[in-house]
Amino acid sequence: MTPEHPTPTGPHDLALDPPPGCPAHVRGPGGLARLYGPGAEDLNELYERLREEHGPVAPVLLHDDLPMWMVLGHAENLRMVRTPSHFTKDSRIWSQLLQGKVRPDHPLMPHIAWQPICAHAEGDEHKRLRGAVTAAMATIDDRSVRRYINRSSQRLVNRFCEEGRADLVGDFAEHLPMAVMCHVLGMPDEYNDTMVHAARDALKGSETAVASHEYVVEALARLTARRRADPEDDFTGHLVRHPAGLTDDEVREHLRLVLFAAYENTVNLLSNVLRMVLTDPRFLARLNGGQMTVAEAVEQSLWDEPPFSTIFGYFAKQDTELGGQRIRRGDGLFFAPAPGNVDPRVRPDLSAHMQGNRSHLAFGSGPHECPGQDIGRAIADVGVDALLMRLPDVQLDCAEDELRWTMSIASRHLVELPVRFEPREQQDVKHKPSHAPIPPQRLTRPAGAPPRPAPAPERETPDLSTPVPAPAPAPQPAPPVPQPTGPARRPNAWRRFLAWWRGY
Ligand code: HEM
Repeated sequence: MTPEHPTPTGPHDLALDPPPGCPAHVRGPGGLARLYGPGAEDLNELYERLREEHGPVAPVLLHDDLPMWMVLGHAENLRMVRTPSHFTKDSRIWSQLLQGKVRPDHPLMPHIAWQPICAHAEGDEHKRLRGAVTAAMATIDDRSVRRYINRSSQRLVNRFCEEGRADLVGDFAEHLPMAVMCHVLGMPDEYNDTMVHAARDALKGSETAVASHEYVVEALARLTARRRADPEDDFTGHLVRHPAGLTDDEVREHLRLVLFAAYENTVNLLSNVLRMVLTDPRFLARLNGGQMTVAEAVEQSLWDEPPFSTIFGYFAKQDTELGGQRIRRGDGLFFAPAPGNVDPRVRPDLSAHMQGNRSHLAFGSGPHECPGQDIGRAIADVGVDALLMRLPDVQLDCAEDELRWTMSIASRHLVELPVRFEPREQQDVKHKPSHAPIPPQRLTRPAGAPPRPAPAPERETPDLSTPVPAPAPAPQPAPPVPQPTGPARRPNAWRRFLAWWRGY
């Protein structure tokens, strides 16, 4: 990026800037806004100030005051990710890196460092690697995964339903995606509390993050070796056998990419949707009145709180223009779903309900568009539904303004979601997970198609391999949907809504 790039264009009046020293507007060299430190505590607010000042593409500073562009506009984000002739995800052309300005221990190095995975590749190499991943994903059966999500949700609720209290982030949202992804990848027995803890710890970047990351990667390496020796009809088996001929390292690295990409994002999505259900009266009213399905609520959340706020990064392959800014070859740009989704040109009224509209940026677009979005949606959709069916009287157990988030440039993570409900007995969990061959079938459903019916109830012995602390109860017929104990209106409305949703 050249030093001249930060020249603001458009109708900006820097004289209107707050007085020097105002902690909310602390700036770095060249008067550019920093994405870190004082003034960057609330990044969403910062993005709105930048949009006002610079328009849809704004110059910003990363840690160590490395210059980048933040793409704030919806159309500009789409243009960037859909134009591989001009923009690449290969960080090796980033001018700051080439000029030696990025120290090896830069806080964003895990995102900056190029890796031989499809998320960083382009052209034919991207096609080769991504082709193997999407082909393996195409073999995942939608109905069977939805059943598994439902059963895993029931097991998780069994762990806390007798208590009358839970933290829906730590006890539910942080577990369900890991349980499902371990099953999808072909290592259901690796799912346990230790695996969840290791993944969370690795993502938090704590002192033990490297060891935790190793723990997860070793499990994936064992899985790769098992499938190489004995290919099965699961995601990893298909990845190993794909004609692209991935090496063991490539298979393991793509399992790692898929597991972490799926895990962190889906945890955030689940937490966000559950928080919306529990705190936003408009949301509940629409659900209760049958004007919104859980699937539409998930889509609304993807607009309002995309699990990836921004993605580092895209890099200009040639001099070009974007959003009125002059972008130089080698400049780095953030793909930014969070500000892009609230661009006033596409959402003049942020309180307007998006009615299941899927043109948000949460899953990206273009050659790198998320290939796992249907699984992410299914986990949120089925998981939230299953939890609300079991605990129809669930309500927030703290004041809304006591909820806390951890925020980084990449994402915003709800720390806890304390809830209370009438204690109730554990329920049988039907069907032991099946590893039967999976018929090839895409998860995708056509845009605008009605939501799929929830999986039919099934009978089966409890799966004792899952980490349910209390002894599993003797098999017995599933009790009816628990009777509401709180105010009658809401649970009844929920049952009406769920009955309607299932087509009764
Ligand atoms: C709610 C959940 C999810 C969200 C919000 C999400 C979002 C994204 C985004 C924004 C990208 C990158 C787009 C870009 O770089 O331009 C991405 C890439 C990717 N995601 Fe997801 N994702 C989710 C769940 C999943 C799941 C469940 C899987 C796997 C089963 C998955 C696998 C991947 C992979 C492999 C890539 C890299 C694709 C490539 O570079 O070609 N994601 N995801």
